[in-house]
Amino acid sequence: MTKQPGKLRTLEEYIIQTQNRFPGATGDLSQLLRDIGLASKIISREVRKAGITNILGADGSTNIHGESVKKLDIFADQQLISALDRSLITCMVISEENDGVVRLHHEGGKYIVFLDPLDGSSNIDVNVSIGSIFSIYMRPARHDGKLLEIDALQQGLRQVAAGYVLYGSSTMMAYTTGMGVSLFTLDPSIGEFILAMDDVMLPDHGNIYSINEGSYNSWSPGLKKYIKYCQVEDPETSRPYKARYIGSMVADIHRTLIKGGIFIYPESSRYPNGKLRLMYECNPLSFIIEQAGGLAIDGRNSILELQPEFIHQNTPIYIGSKQNVLKVQEFLKAEAVIERA
Ligand code: AHG
Ligand code: MN
Ligand code: MN
Repeated sequence: MTKQPGKLRTLEEYIIQTQNRFPGATGDLSQLLRDIGLASKIISREVRKAGITNILGADGSTNIHGESVKKLDIFADQQLISALDRSLITCMVISEENDGVVRLHHEGGKYIVFLDPLDGSSNIDVNVSIGSIFSIYMRPARHDGKLLEIDALQQGLRQVAAGYVLYGSSTMMAYTTGMGVSLFTLDPSIGEFILAMDDVMLPDHGNIYSINEGSYNSWSPGLKKYIKYCQVEDPETSRPYKARYIGSMVADIHRTLIKGGIFIYPESSRYPNGKLRLMYECNPLSFIIEQAGGLAIDGRNSILELQPEFIHQNTPIYIGSKQNVLKVQEFLKAEAVIERA
């Protein structure tokens, strides 16, 4: 059900055409997308030459989550933040690489942006796909005009736009403003993102499951049973499913967007609240997947309806094709009933 574009359209043309559909649009959101587009081209260039310059590998410090920080993480963080700062539309950035909120020069800017500047950074050293994730909110109006951290703590369903850039065998951007998902491919010969697909829809049911199975022993009984269900042979439901796990959420979600199936990062005895971050990993990628006809839950509730309590909050996530997510939810529910009985 995916529409192929009729003629070559650059990201810039796409921005102008979609903006023209809204007579009152100020163009600010379009400018924000341009900023992210520019920063991601610079990051893409740096990712492509990571092996020949000295930018690979850990820089020796650890981020606020105690993980070792790669040089490219810091580079990507700086590029995105300075691009957003330049256009004076964004007032505040929350990034995985910064402990607190980052206030930009234009305190009155109307957007708040969440970033995972480089996702899957443990894959940098082995030349496997990585990505950048962004999530955009309107800054709420306050009588005193002050800008507080709590202003950033909005439910995912209030995102005005979100997307990711995947630095894979080609560089692709997925973007949504709540009216479907558009995919762009970076043409390195002209340095432009070109529209590759409009109104991307993922299959309603897919035959791929994606989870770090090494953590099997720390999962809930319901999840263990669901993964066994994925492995049982039943041609009617395309089982056994294929197992695919890249270890870069962006790359795993991109495959899910194109081919369908399910991606899971669950709660476990090791990570009681899951490992992935609600505001700059799960919300934007859930917005994309739901706009493409899929579903994203934390096991019980919709990811996009969760009320965040702090900016670096974690959540379990079960995300992908609708039928697959509803099926895992059945397994989790059944087991919860047994545990309580
Ligand atoms: P980041 O590189 O931004 O810290 O994110 C890594 C995340 C995510 O991309 C991936 O799905 C997950 O960590 C992999 O975790 P495990 O190694 O625990 O499977
Ligand atoms: Mn990440
Ligand atoms: Mn990251």
